[in-house]
Amino acid sequence: MAEAISEATKAPAFDMTSSNPSVVEDFDLLIVGTPVEGFNPAKETTEFLERLPKTEGKKAIIFCTCALWKGRTFGTMKKKLSSKGYDTILSTSKKMKKDTPADFSESINQIQKALEK
Ligand SMILES: Cc1cc2nc3c(=O)[nH]c(=O)nc-3n(C[C@H](O)[C@H](O)[C@H](O)COP(=O)(O)O)c2cc1C
Repeated sequence: MAEAISEATKAPAFDMTSSNPSVVEDFDLLIVGTPVEGFNPAKETTEFLERLPKTEGKKAIIFCTCALWKGRTFGTMKKKLSSKGYDTILSTSKKMKKDTPADFSESINQIQKALEK
C-alpha cells in the first residue's frame, strides 16, 4: 500500500524498520502506515512514531491494512503523532483479502483529494 501511495503521489517512500526517523524533517507532510496487529499498529510502527522528532504544525495522513478489524490502530497513531506536533488530516484503511490482488484506488483517491486541499 505504501508503494502504491508513493507511486501515485510521487512522494518518496521509506521503510520505517530501516530508516532514521529524522528523515521526516526534510518534508512538510508525513504519510505513514501500518499493518494492523492485535487491533493496534504493528510494534515497528509504534516504535517509529515514538522516535519521531518533535515538530510544530505539520500535517500527517495515516493508513493501515487489516484482515478484519482495525480496532484502536488509528486512535493510537493519532495520539502518538499529536504528541509529536502532527495534525492528522486523513486516515484511510484497506481490508486485505487472501489471494485477491490488492486495489488501493479508493484510499489513493482520498489521499489525492486531501493533498489538493
Ligand atoms: C500477528 C498479527 C496480528 C494481526 N492482527 C490483526 C488484527 O487485530 N485485526 C486485523 O484486522 N488484522 C490483523 N492481522 C492481519 C494483518 O493486518 C494483515 O496480514 C496485514 O494487514 C497485511 O495483509 P496481507 O496479509 O493480506 O498482506 C494480523 C496479522 C498478524 C501477522
